[in-house]
Amino acid sequence: MSSQLVQIGDLPGKGLPRPSTDGKTFYLETFGCQMNAHDSEKVAGLLVGRGYRRVSSYEEADLVFYNTCSIREKAAQKVFSRLGILKEDPGLKEKFIGVLGCVAQQEGEKIFQRAPHVNLVCGSASYHRLPEMLSEMEAGKKRVTGLSLDTDECFETEITRRDQPFRAYLTIIEGCDKSCAYCVVPMTRGPERSRPSDKVLEDCHRLVNEGYTEIQLLGQNVNSYRDPSPAGWSFAELLARVGEVDGLRRARFTTSHPRDFHPEIVEAIDTHPVLCDHVHLPVQSGSDRVLSRMRRDYTREEYLEKINCIRNAGRAISISTDLIVGFPGETREDFEQTLTLVDEVGYDSAFSFKYSPRPKTSALDLVDSVGEEEKTLRLGILQDRQRAIQLQRNATLIGRTFEVLAERRQKRDGQLTGHTSSHRVVNFSGGQELLGQYVDVRITSAGANSLVGEMVQNGSR
Ligand code: 5AD
Ligand code: SF4
Repeated sequence: MSSQLVQIGDLPGKGLPRPSTDGKTFYLETFGCQMNAHDSEKVAGLLVGRGYRRVSSYEEADLVFYNTCSIREKAAQKVFSRLGILKEDPGLKEKFIGVLGCVAQQEGEKIFQRAPHVNLVCGSASYHRLPEMLSEMEAGKKRVTGLSLDTDECFETEITRRDQPFRAYLTIIEGCDKSCAYCVVPMTRGPERSRPSDKVLEDCHRLVNEGYTEIQLLGQNVNSYRDPSPAGWSFAELLARVGEVDGLRRARFTTSHPRDFHPEIVEAIDTHPVLCDHVHLPVQSGSDRVLSRMRRDYTREEYLEKINCIRNAGRAISISTDLIVGFPGETREDFEQTLTLVDEVGYDSAFSFKYSPRPKTSALDLVDSVGEEEKTLRLGILQDRQRAIQLQRNATLIGRTFEVLAERRQKRDGQLTGHTSSHRVVNFSGGQELLGQYVDVRITSAGANSLVGEMVQNGSR
C-alpha cells in the first residue's frame, strides 16, 4: 500500500553526477531495535530513490547492507557471522558490502581489517551523509566511511519504504545523552537531536493521508524530546498534539527513561483517546544499590511513584519494562529486590536480559562478578515469575471486549492477529477483508503472551 505509492520527487543526492544504477539490486538485513528497523526503512527508501531494486537474498544483490545492533555481545557477533558466510560467495567480487548501525559505529575502521571485503562502514549519526557516501561508492571508491558522532543532524529521507502496512514508525528524537553504565547506545548513536515539532506533525498528517492509522513515535528516550523550533514543546505537549491529528486512530511511543517520565505524559494519555493506553518504562533493577551503580538516576521509590501516577490515570494503562540480571556486583539480595519489584508493579510484559559487558561503557570498570551460570539461573527465575504474573493478569481479561487492529494473518493457524491499544496480542478468526480494520473482539482464553478471542458485532460490548 502506501509505501509502494510514494512519488520519487527530488531524489537525495540529486545534482551529483553518478553512474546509472538501472537494474542494480540491494539486500538489506536489520538487527536490533525499532529505531534500527525504522532506519532501515529510510535507507531502503534512499536506495529505491536512487534506482536500486530490493531483493530478498544476498546472492542476487549488487549491494549487501547489514544494519547492525551491539546492545549485547551476542547481537554484535551476528554481523560477523553474516560477513563470514558472504566471504565464501562466488559473486563477492562484484558486490558492494556495507555495515551500518551500532556495530559499524562501535568497531569503526577495524571492520575493514577483520572483514576486508567490507566496503562501507557507517554509524547512524552519519546517515544524513549517506547520499554523498553512496555517490562515492557508485563512482568506484572501494572504502567509504561515516563515523563522526559530532552531529546535530537527523536522518531525513524523501522516501521511506515502510515495512508494515497499517502502523508507521516515526522518529521524534535521535541519540542519547544519558550515561547508563552498561549501555553502548550513547557511544553508537551519538548525542540527542530532536526533530522540530512542525515536521513531526506534518509527517503525521502525511502518514494518515497515505492510509496509516497507527503511528509509533520513536526515540532512545522520547521523554527528553525538546522541540528545537520556537514552539519549544516538551514531549507531553507534542504527544497531546499528535493525539489531536485528524484521522489518526492510535499513537504510541517508545522508549521512556523513568527519570524524565512526568505526570504530564499521563495527563496527555488520559485526555486523548488516540494515545494508546500503554507505557514502556524500563526499570532495569529493583535494588537501589544496583540502580545507583548502573547510574540510572532514580531510586526504586521514585520509580514506584511514577508507576503509581500511571496506575491512578483515568483509564487503565498497561505497563511493560526491561530488566537486567547479573549486573556487576548484583548480590542475591539485590536480585530478590528485582523480584519483589516485579511482583509489586505487576507488569503486563517484560523483556529481561543477562548483563553483557560492552566496549567503552563505564561498567567495564566494575568486576563482572556474577558468573554465567548464576546469570542464567537468575534470568530463569525472573522470567518464570513474570510469566506467572502475565498469565494471572491476562486471565482477568477473559469475557471482556477490546478493540483490536487486525494486522496480519498467522501462517501457523490462519487466524488474524493484532494488538489492543494496551499492546496485548489478540488472535481471532476472521476474513481477509478485516486486515487494517479495528475490530471488537471478546476474549475467550488467555496465555501468558497472547489472548484468543472472537469478533463481536460493533456496539455489542
Ligand atoms: N547487557 C544486557 N542488557 C542490556 N540492555 C542494554 N544494555 C545491556 C547490556 N550491556 C538492555 C536494557 C535496555 C534494553 C534495550 O536492553 O534492559 O533497556
Ligand atoms: Fe541495538 Fe541499541 Fe543500537 Fe538499537 S540503539 S540497534 S538496541 S545497540
